[in-house]
Amino acid sequence: MYSQKLSRLLFGLYGRREAAVCAVGRSGFSWTAVCKQRTLWLQRNACLKTQRHTVPCHSSARSASHTTVDPDEVRRFQSLASKWWDEQGEFAALHAMNDLRVPFIRDNLLSVHIEGQPGKPLAGLRILDVGCGGGLLTEPLGRLGADVLGIDPVEDSIGTAQVHAAYDPDLREGVRYRACPLEELIGEEEEGREGGEGNYDAVVASEVVEHLADLETFAFCCSQVLKPGGSLFITTINKTNLSYALAIVAAEQLLRIVPSGTHDWDKFISPVELERILESNGFSVQSVQGMMYNPLSGAWCWANSTSINYALHAVKTTDQPHTEQAEESSPYPEGHAADTQR
Ligand SMILES: C[S@@+](CC[C@H](N)C(=O)[O-])C[C@H]1O[C@@H](n2cnc3c(N)ncnc32)[C@H](O)[C@@H]1O
Repeated sequence: MYSQKLSRLLFGLYGRREAAVCAVGRSGFSWTAVCKQRTLWLQRNACLKTQRHTVPCHSSARSASHTTVDPDEVRRFQSLASKWWDEQGEFAALHAMNDLRVPFIRDNLLSVHIEGQPGKPLAGLRILDVGCGGGLLTEPLGRLGADVLGIDPVEDSIGTAQVHAAYDPDLREGVRYRACPLEELIGEEEEGREGGEGNYDAVVASEVVEHLADLETFAFCCSQVLKPGGSLFITTINKTNLSYALAIVAAEQLLRIVPSGTHDWDKFISPVELERILESNGFSVQSVQGMMYNPLSGAWCWANSTSINYALHAVKTTDQPHTEQAEESSPYPEGHAADTQR
């Protein structure tokens, strides 16, 4: 019954949304976008002149709030904070995603770093798990030997993560948690082993960027906390018709795999747009890999298509985001300004 409903829905939606994309223009050129980018460029340059060494002054089509935190998102995750470790519950799909994302992070790190210790391949590496929630991904990374700090703006989720990790003596040394947004770590004096700039070998943000208020500020902060050559791992949802149909209509409204209202399609992002933001913040994208969830088996697999979910690995190439040089020389958007589908 669900599959019939779903296919009707998919084809219906596809037709309607396709028309909307065509209206903008497949070439991606739009004068409105050009004018908007020019305004943002002027605002951003004015900000850069006055705030070189403080909070990033990124303007973005999403927001220019300088905080990554959207209070509505915090409220939503606050209400779910006790549910993180129910493997059959609201976060079941995130539990299952570990089958893909843990090896993705481990193998990409091991392609650069020499294996730490037998059985602890990530020993000696410092990882920041941003938006860690209840620690579903933080814990397995800690078990691989990494020194992991999990942060999340939702205090009760951090409480849940701390209580859960305390049951495993193996995690006592390597896994710590802190209730704060990423931007709070920037400019922070080195306190023990927490916070600080240029401190991490890797930053992980899994299923997080689609919940942020300001992705530009987030990318800037990721670059700041990473060591040069450090890795950024992101998993997220593409901004396509198919992702709307599957991640919102099917997963939230029909099958109720994910709590209703968890996702806002406007905050989804295509790999192309995410790459653009990361590259303007000093990253070089190494790989983008499609992911697919099967609601019947409850399992994830890698996919050739990135049209729904995808995982991205980027490396910090420079110490400073190249906002000034790049944007002073070219204030106009690149050809893919209106591109929402890879
Ligand atoms: C879908 S959950 C993913 C949790 C975890 N990364 C995982 O995959 O198991 C999204 C998480 O992002 C967190 N979040 C929301 N806004 C955030 C922000 N501005 N900075 C960091 N985390 C945020 C939420 O509190 C929530 O824990």
